[in-house]
Amino acid sequence: MKRYLLRPGGGVGGEVRVPGDKSISHRALMLGGIAEGTTEVTGFLASEDCLATLGALKALGVPIERPEPDRMIVHGTGARGLSGASGPLDMGNAGTAMRLLMGLLAGQPFDSTLIGDESLMRRPMERAAVPLRLMGARIVTQDGRPPVHILGGGALHGIDYRLPVASAQVKSAILLAALGATGATSVTEPAPTRDHTERMLSAFGVQVRRQGATVMLRGGQRLRAARIDVPGDFSSAAFFLVAGCLGARGALVLKGVGINPTRTGLLDLLRAMGADIRVFPRGVRGAEGASAIGGRSSGETAAQAAGGSLSRGEAVVNGGSVDPREPVADIEVRASALRGIEVPPALVPLAIDEFPVFFIAAAAAEGETIVRGAEELRVKETDRLAAMAEGLGRLGVEHELLADGLRIRGRGRFGGGTIDSHGDHRIAMAFAVASLNADAPIEILDVANVATSFPGFVDVARGAGLEIEAG
Ligand code: S3P
Repeated sequence: MKRYLLRPGGGVGGEVRVPGDKSISHRALMLGGIAEGTTEVTGFLASEDCLATLGALKALGVPIERPEPDRMIVHGTGARGLSGASGPLDMGNAGTAMRLLMGLLAGQPFDSTLIGDESLMRRPMERAAVPLRLMGARIVTQDGRPPVHILGGGALHGIDYRLPVASAQVKSAILLAALGATGATSVTEPAPTRDHTERMLSAFGVQVRRQGATVMLRGGQRLRAARIDVPGDFSSAAFFLVAGCLGARGALVLKGVGINPTRTGLLDLLRAMGADIRVFPRGVRGAEGASAIGGRSSGETAAQAAGGSLSRGEAVVNGGSVDPREPVADIEVRASALRGIEVPPALVPLAIDEFPVFFIAAAAAEGETIVRGAEELRVKETDRLAAMAEGLGRLGVEHELLADGLRIRGRGRFGGGTIDSHGDHRIAMAFAVASLNADAPIEILDVANVATSFPGFVDVARGAGLEIEAG
């Protein structure tokens, strides 16, 4: 079993470039696959999760070339061009890939079966299956979990759906199914979640509208190939943002990171704790795709181009078209004296993947930090509340595990010890960062899954100054 060994103390500094965004990489392959024409994806995250999506699309008949590790050429088959795979599609550890594919495959004329690794086979899939069934899909799960059997041939129709949980994956599954459904579909979120699907659909020429918490599109629209330049993954940068707060010598600069506001809740949380972080916007990615796909006369917005042809959801009909671009920045962080905070519940979905490393920041802060309303963390790659509580306990950090969150009494420094990551990439990387404030070595077990989101983590971490060995 792979493990990390970290020497305590040390510092970080210099420039760090993290790999491409995982959420955007999955979506670029999927939308490229069902678009008309050839989509080029640069800055693609060549991690195990995204390569599972690549394998699935190839199995579904999409020709994809990979001239460089992070460059993909996707020869889109068009909306009706996918063909049934010869066996189950194995999505490995990737929940995003599985739930988004459920939406993509729900309206296809062929049957599909989705499976995954031990962790994914335990994760809830009904949250995506329920709305897809309301659209007319025939989907069978096993007690709510994979394998997911999608029976082909059913005709889908649009729905107006209010998400019971704030989930970008479920929202995206519905929007992907909506492309092949008759009529319009709207999805209303209980709280904002990442909007990469909406933005990228817009970049592929789909008219998507947003009004407040509701996003809407009309079925039957064609996707036209785009050029997608994937920004650095904010969720990977997050480990270095916290590392910088704990132990930057001078400045640590993260280059070319995606700062889509539906992803950057951690910036707000760290700043509220007193972090010294500066964001230098570097423009947007995806603009080229938006203009390359054409189809609109210059100066005309997608909303204007859509005219009044949408028939339902008055507020949404009057809503705005979705910006196809993703904002990018360099982020500079310096060592900061952090104070504990109460996390505003509204920020939870905007920092959902960053809680493992946020809890390390809380342990390194002075005073109490409390997170509530974060029960979604229990159904991630592992139960992240339980796994973090267990690991913090090993380091001697005083804490209380709550049903929907965690209370942490930070005292600046903590001990070392052996941590079980439970095969969760973000738990493993979070405890690597903890070494900066530890007084003894930290050993982290079961770390192979770091490759699902951050291949090359050890080299990047060592380059920044962490004293990490992989064994
Ligand atoms: C993701 C959405 C989030 C997030 C996951 C990636 C996505 O999951 O935790 O890592 O790419 O849409 P939920 O939709 O379950 O919140």
